[in-house]
Amino acid sequence: MEKLYEGKAKILYPEGENLRVYFKDEATAFNAQKRGLIPGKGVVNNKVSAFLFRHLEAHGVKTHFLKELSDREMLVRRVEILPLEVILRYRAAGSFARRYGVEEGTPLQAPLVEFSLKNDALGDPLICENAILALGLAEEGELERVKATALRVGELLRGFFAQRGLDLWDFKLEFGRYGGEILLADEISPDTMRLRKDGEPLDKDRFRRDLGGVEEAYQEVLRRVLGG
Ligand code: TMP
Repeated sequence: MEKLYEGKAKILYPEGENLRVYFKDEATAFNAQKRGLIPGKGVVNNKVSAFLFRHLEAHGVKTHFLKELSDREMLVRRVEILPLEVILRYRAAGSFARRYGVEEGTPLQAPLVEFSLKNDALGDPLICENAILALGLAEEGELERVKATALRVGELLRGFFAQRGLDLWDFKLEFGRYGGEILLADEISPDTMRLRKDGEPLDKDRFRRDLGGVEEAYQEVLRRVLGG
């Protein structure tokens, strides 16, 4: 079947009016300056994303998810992705900790919603809401909807992972337009979250920082997500 699009971690295929998403084991970090393979990652990310999309749907969040097709593939609605990475933070880490000179793990006074422009050539720069509106990347109503949904997703995921002994520090979401609605899209996986168990990363930070035990960390997240 002809590919519609191949990204760094996923391949999209047309499937009738929907899309089939194939999750790869390839990993990149730092805007693809670092590349590698995490065996089994595609399976973990597909299954974790599917489980979390179902959990969020059960709590009233509208997502692009339709069903799991195989270990590495899911069927999703074909949305028009907003060119924004929506990042929710509960503790300082990664680019936020570097930008503001804050120690990793510092709790934030309130959940923070940040936006980056999805543009690899520019290195996904941070973008403010006024610039999003000025550039016509989203309408005001859409942006409000995106922020409110991101905060709701954050509350649900923080609780979900806390019950499984994991602390969700931050995560990235993407949204898309679909028939006048805004749906949560893309993936929610250890590639796109920072999850800590007793302060130890169980996510892509193990790969970014060469901490070792990367495959095992992804498998442990899957076990905890499925295990309840
Ligand atoms: P950051 O601290 O590097 O900006 O990352 C914030 C969160 O967003 C973290 O959970 C990892 C996730 N993320 C992605 O999913 N994709 C990306 O391209 C980047 C830079 C971060």
